[in-house]
Amino acid sequence: MSRQVDPSPSDAAAASKEGVLPVGIVGLGVDLPDEVVTNDDWAAVLDTSDEWIRTRTGIRERRRIDDDDSTSDLAVRAGRAALDDAGLQPEDVSAVIVATTTPDHVMPQTGPIVAGKLGIESAAFDVGAACTGFIYGLQVAATLVATGQQEPVLLIGAEALTRFIDEQDRSTAVLFGDGAGACVLASGNGSLGPFDLGSDGSLADTLIVPAGGASEPASEETVAARRHFLTMEGGETYRHAVARMAASCRTVLDQAGVDVETVDLLVGHQANERILKAVASRVGLSEEQAFIDIDRVGNTSAASIPIALADARDDGLLKPGARVLLTGFGAGLTWGSCLLTVPEDGG
Ligand code: UT7
Repeated sequence: MSRQVDPSPSDAAAASKEGVLPVGIVGLGVDLPDEVVTNDDWAAVLDTSDEWIRTRTGIRERRRIDDDDSTSDLAVRAGRAALDDAGLQPEDVSAVIVATTTPDHVMPQTGPIVAGKLGIESAAFDVGAACTGFIYGLQVAATLVATGQQEPVLLIGAEALTRFIDEQDRSTAVLFGDGAGACVLASGNGSLGPFDLGSDGSLADTLIVPAGGASEPASEETVAARRHFLTMEGGETYRHAVARMAASCRTVLDQAGVDVETVDLLVGHQANERILKAVASRVGLSEEQAFIDIDRVGNTSAASIPIALADARDDGLLKPGARVLLTGFGAGLTWGSCLLTVPEDGG
């Protein structure tokens, strides 16, 4: 999965199936801040422990963004790395899509800021679906490429979640980390799809930053009440995460007509190691097939799947012809899944 090449015959066969797009990932890149925050660091300031965090979530450490950086800076560095990986220059990019739930500003969006920092004036916009944002963005980006509208597309999941956590709330503060993962999409090079995307807005309060938007504008009262920080009903979110991701993965497999035994790897949103293993089991995969890197990055929301994909590649798991199930779940509530097929020649 690196350079752009012509589709192989097997790619073309895959693409003929409903909802399968002859689009591949031709470059991957990651940017993680230097500062490592360990579980013991949190235990020094909150009533928590390394043991609790590790056994309940799988997290050992996460990264915290530099004071001088913002989401767009992480996105730009990850984007550049993905372009280098693809052998492309910023000026080759036809569209920049940023999936984020922690934008630099309410307005303007982070996409144009990232494009500007890359020195290009391409189409640039954000996709907002919280932790599912990368999967949503992947469908948008792959469709733009497949329909000949834009190519190549630079899709970046980028988050500065530590700017939105309540450092006094042990039930959320220890979970989240900062980082960015990017991919370059171009025609050929395996396939993406089918996709399954969904949402249930009646559960919006389950995982929310209550104030600072149009429904509850910033005021001295909202700040005093700490309503600009993320809140989550953890148990409720956990139950929905397992059920929705598992169902969504099954929908994708059914639609693709793919036997689960031919799936090599599950690369899911890294919110909790236990959730990922439960989803794998429910889908009919072994727990070992659930890729895990939450131990070193924590929950990086929309950045987590591209970071995990890059880590899986570095671990040699994206072998030629590999079938990879991608799945995500997050605030909204939102969820989504798709199949990624690595080209037979490895790309
Ligand atoms: O990224 C978007 C999607 N996010 C998710 O999918 C996250 C879903 N939720 C989860 O991963 C888990 O629910 C959590 C990791 C957030 C919590 O794990 P849990 O096993 O569901 O714990 P819990 O919320 O049921 O809390 C169990 C106990 C409580 O104490 P009591 O009431 O039993 O005395 C909590 O107060 O653990 C306590 N607790 C903690 N203890 C030590 C909660 N957070 C902590 C903590 N350290 N950091």
